[in-house]
Amino acid sequence: MAIDTLDLTILVAILAALIAYFTKGKLWAKGDAEDVSASGASGSRDIVLTLNETGKKAIVLFGSQTGTAEDYAHKFAKEFQSRFGIPTMCGDLADYDYDNFEKIPTQVPNFQMVIFLAATYGEGDPTDNAIDFFEYLENDCEDLSGLKFACFGLGNSTYEFYNASGKKVVKVLQEKNAELIGELGLGDDGKATTDEDYLSWKDSLFEVIKDSLSLQERDLEYEAGIEVIEDHTLTEDSPSVSLGEPDASYVNPVTPEDKTYLERGPFDNTHPFLAPVVSIRDMCPVRHCIHAELDISGSNLRYLTGDHLAIWPSNPDSKVNKMISALDLDSKKDTIIKIHSLDPTVRSLIPTPTTYATVIRYYLEISGPVSRQFIKSVAQFCPDDATKGKIDEISGNKELFQKEITDQGLNIADALLLLSHGVKWTTVPFAFIIESIPHVQPRYYSISSSFLSEKETVHITVMVEANKVTGTDRMTTGVASNLLYDIEANSNGTKAIESYNLEGPRGKFRKYRLPVHIRRSTFKLPTNQDTPIIMVGPGTGVAPFRGFVREKVKLAENGKAGKGDVVLFYGCRKSTEDFLYKSEWPEYAKKLGDKFTLITAFSRETDKKVYVQHKMRENSKKIAELLDQGAFFYVCGDASGMARDVQKALIDIMVKEKEILEDDAIEMVKQLKIQNRYQEDVW
Ligand SMILES: Cc1cc2nc3c(=O)[nH]c(=O)nc-3n(C[C@H](O)[C@H](O)[C@H](O)COP(=O)(O)OP(=O)(O)OC[C@H]3O[C@@H](n4cnc5c(N)ncnc54)[C@H](O)[C@@H]3O)c2cc1C
Ligand SMILES: NC(=O)c1ccc[n+]([C@@H]2O[C@H](COP(=O)([O-])OP(=O)(O)OC[C@H]3O[C@@H](n4cnc5c(N)ncnc54)[C@H](OP(=O)(O)O)[C@@H]3O)[C@@H](O)[C@H]2O)c1
Ligand SMILES: Cc1cc2nc3c(=O)[nH]c(=O)nc-3n(C[C@H](O)[C@H](O)[C@H](O)COP(=O)(O)O)c2cc1C
Ligand SMILES: *[C@@H]1O[C@H](CO)[C@@H](O)[C@H](O)[C@H]1NC(C)=O
Ligand SMILES: *[C@@H]1O[C@H](CO)[C@@H](O)[C@H](O)[C@H]1NC(C)=O
Ligand SMILES: *[C@@H]1O[C@H](CO)[C@@H](O)[C@H](O)[C@H]1NC(C)=O
Ligand SMILES: *[C@@H]1O[C@H](CO)[C@@H](O)[C@H](O)[C@H]1NC(C)=O
Repeated sequence: MAIDTLDLTILVAILAALIAYFTKGKLWAKGDAEDVSASGASGSRDIVLTLNETGKKAIVLFGSQTGTAEDYAHKFAKEFQSRFGIPTMCGDLADYDYDNFEKIPTQVPNFQMVIFLAATYGEGDPTDNAIDFFEYLENDCEDLSGLKFACFGLGNSTYEFYNASGKKVVKVLQEKNAELIGELGLGDDGKATTDEDYLSWKDSLFEVIKDSLSLQERDLEYEAGIEVIEDHTLTEDSPSVSLGEPDASYVNPVTPEDKTYLERGPFDNTHPFLAPVVSIRDMCPVRHCIHAELDISGSNLRYLTGDHLAIWPSNPDSKVNKMISALDLDSKKDTIIKIHSLDPTVRSLIPTPTTYATVIRYYLEISGPVSRQFIKSVAQFCPDDATKGKIDEISGNKELFQKEITDQGLNIADALLLLSHGVKWTTVPFAFIIESIPHVQPRYYSISSSFLSEKETVHITVMVEANKVTGTDRMTTGVASNLLYDIEANSNGTKAIESYNLEGPRGKFRKYRLPVHIRRSTFKLPTNQDTPIIMVGPGTGVAPFRGFVREKVKLAENGKAGKGDVVLFYGCRKSTEDFLYKSEWPEYAKKLGDKFTLITAFSRETDKKVYVQHKMRENSKKIAELLDQGAFFYVCGDASGMARDVQKALIDIMVKEKEILEDDAIEMVKQLKIQNRYQEDVW
């Protein structure tokens, strides 16, 4: 594409946006606020120095996006240390530089081993926090003789590139003469066995370690890495007390620098922006799908069409109250506590001082399914012998645990109270609760607006998660999606499924704000507007495509739409029930003219399931033609079934229309992916 065909103002705008985007707005930020680059818990990015200074003899490193690997890593480090008496630290892969990684065996006296827990994303890619480490593995790693390591990879076998991260770590490290202890462990979300996979990998690894490192095993007891102390000199009104602020800088901003940092950022995954919700509605009252618009003006936050918005949720009242009650904290839920680290390599991300109730509402993931691991480890604090007996029975038996706990949709508090027959767990140290329950993670949403048409407003499209547990009248509910639903219901004067504290700490979330940050994605429109695009996005998978189409409309209004066809395959249950943005599509079609085609598949309108891939097959000729013209192909939405079925459909279409062998069609799709012409945004 020649530059002179481009409107220069657009070019300048895009350039400015790109700079803001890739520097995460840091160029616009005040100098003081910039000093937020991450480093290890002891303050250094030098891994050998950190080990030397803290006297640690083993390190557990995690590559994690949604917190599973991180949670396992913390637990592994604690258990390893307590079983074998080896001082062990746990670290984020992003917290260290790897230039002297090779020196660990020679420079850290008595060093035992490194343990990796790494999740896989996208096309076999590492998590965001592991990118630098994988770069090191690929380019700079030379000789790791004398290093012992173990590895557990997390993934989902429904994805094409399963177990890629774990396999890569093992392959490279072994090539560089490091010694693998035990076997590569693999956790598979696709079979919903990640937890069990982890437990069996860990147990067999411990057996091997006993032999190969000749270590003595000790009785397993909780060794606190943090200490929780009540402070009766402070109250909730004391300015230093955190009541649920997303990070410490929000608690008591006093200096002008503090205020600048809060107003202008940089806002990122360590420091969210409190974005006002300027518009919110329920698009399909039968299923509840929320369209929300958030204002990011003045924040220096920039997004590009196709990026993700991260929302930092808090827990609903019902779950907070049940957890408080299970731990017998009702009478002192608002007592001020201070959280101290007892180990320089353990850092608590919870701003302190704070209160019991605050920790439970804002910082701990109390709501999802409870793991067998957690129940096993909480056994040491049972309120009575009957409970201990029950826990020993159930935590040692996978099938029983599945049947009585997992299949019942129980969360931590539900399970604790069920197992103790309602007796409160007065005896569990709160430090153990903080260390054993994963921290609340932000939830990602594909942005459904277009940067070109709304620069300062981010739209998202959120399906409310609430599922009945079969055979019971209980419901499991999703934390973030129900928070959005509660905001919608509140602003509409109706009632949602779960109620939240929408005021937030010190009224900071009032009417209505949400802590957010923006995550870059590679899911992007072609730069050349003459390139056709084919989009496949059933259900909420349509979110980024609404953004793409709005971008095309904006370009068309400026006379820059180009010649490329814009084809969208959309599917939902019924045209009258959950057809997202139903009234908007005809408007877009008017603006885009013949170039735009919306092809719908309604799965529950006839007695036969009609899915997007069926409609693709009906339109196979057109799809093949567009791909011949260089079309980009996009898939968004459900990863477990749809994305795979759509890829299969595309392969079949190639076989049919191009009269080639299936293997050649598979190769063609692979090439499209390599050329970035087949892009997926799936979850
Ligand atoms: C890159 C990316 C883009 C995404 N884009 C979108 C988008 O555009 N739109 C969208 O709607 N979603 C999107 N998602 C999914 C979204 O991030 C969330 O995962 C989703 O909204 C659910 O979050 P939640 O907090 O409501 O549920 P969570 O609290 O995370 O719960 C997850 C599920 O567990 C169930 N559950 C809760 N408790 C239990 C229990 N005790 N036992 C068993 N099950 C239980 C919940 O009902 C829910 O179904 C995207 C995800 C990714 C990774
Ligand atoms: N527990 C439940 O009842 C239940 C069921 C589905 C989804 N959900 C939740 O809803 C969330 C997502 O909702 P959503 O709106 O994005 O999607 P969705 O409504 O579940 O699906 C959108 C459309 O895709 C269809 N579909 C299902 N499987 C497909 C496949 N393999 N290939 C192509 N199309 C397929 C669906 O048909 P059909 O649904 O008619 O098959 C529907 O028409 C999920 O995260 C999930 O947790 C819950
Ligand atoms: C958006 C998304 C993409 C994923 N891509 C892959 C993949 O390509 N291959 C794979 O094996 N697993 C994939 N997974 C599954 C994760 O690796 C798995 O859920 C893992 O347990 C997450 O670990 P974490 O919570 O530590 O990030 C994906 C998960 C999500 C949410
Ligand atoms: C770590 O300690 C060892 C032995 O005490 C020493 O030889 C080495 O230089 C130290 N390395 C660093 C980076 O501190
Ligand atoms: C990893 O996944 C691939 C593809 O799913 C599979 O063929 C392979 O056996 C797996 N590797 C291991 C070590 O399990
Ligand atoms: C992974 O596997 C589960 C089945 O446990 C499936 O429901 C889910 O959609 C898959 N994908 C992700 C991203 O979890
Ligand atoms: C409240 O929600 C209903 C159903 O989604 C909608 O029809 C109505 O317009 C909303 N009212 C307000 C005031 O937003």
